[in-house]
Amino acid sequence: MTNTIQAIKLGFIGLDVVDIASMRRCYGDVLGLPVTRQESGEIYLSCGGDHHSLSLHSASKPALRHLGLQVAGEGSLRDVQRSLSDAGVPAQIEHDRIPGVPESVRIADVDGYAIHLYRDMARVEPRYTLSGIMPNKLGHAALYVRDPAAALAFYTNHLGFRWSDWLEDLFVFMRCNCDHHALNCIRSTKRGLFHFAFELRDWSHLGNACDMLARSGILLVNGPVRHGLGHNQAIYFRDPDGNLVELFCDLDRMSDESLGYFDPRPHHEDSPQRPKVWPHDIATGNIWGIPASDDFLG
Ligand SMILES: [Fe+2]
Repeated sequence: MTNTIQAIKLGFIGLDVVDIASMRRCYGDVLGLPVTRQESGEIYLSCGGDHHSLSLHSASKPALRHLGLQVAGEGSLRDVQRSLSDAGVPAQIEHDRIPGVPESVRIADVDGYAIHLYRDMARVEPRYTLSGIMPNKLGHAALYVRDPAAALAFYTNHLGFRWSDWLEDLFVFMRCNCDHHALNCIRSTKRGLFHFAFELRDWSHLGNACDMLARSGILLVNGPVRHGLGHNQAIYFRDPDGNLVELFCDLDRMSDESLGYFDPRPHHEDSPQRPKVWPHDIATGNIWGIPASDDFLG
């Protein structure tokens, strides 16, 4: 077990992409993420002022390239590298490997996904464009994994995550800050991203996003929903490479870890709403009752 490393944010996602021009239009124009760096076959986009929250890398097939997790602390990451190595997790320090990130530690999680740990990332302007959907921030990544319990053990033991909810023994939701989840891991024979998500401001913003997506020829494949686990209001669409993208708001928050329950909300089933194991039924996926499409369920 590695006790001294505390992840505090899902900072960035890197995607291998096939149609980089269409992907740039989707994330740069429709979502309105400012492009902060562009070079041969690579585009970096911000969402809130970090150098980037999303990077697109030309490739022969779509894939999850890596995730970036910001970790607490200051200064060199030697302590992080040493602590992981001592716990049996191979970890390499890299300098300027990721644009905007002077120092990072690269590891592979229990499913082999590449994770870059970092403390500092360059700030950029503009932090937001004044066009497109303009999410608040990158919210979470949902990963296909072999064994969600093993994934949970890895992220809790080595990176300080806490579990927020389970869907039976199939799907585990994990937080590393007050947001209900920054990562979730679903049991599957597939590999890669189930979906990833950006946070919007409120229900009205979600409605405007639906209109903007529709005017761009992008149709929803799920939603609007209010999920059971996390209670986020959400919509889902597919980007030009076929990645499933969620836009959400009103996600559960645990402002005080010592209380051990999520901040009370009128739509909660429990009082207080504590982390728990949920049954697998339609009301868990969408407490408003509208079932997901076959495309969403894959
Ligand atoms: Fe999600």
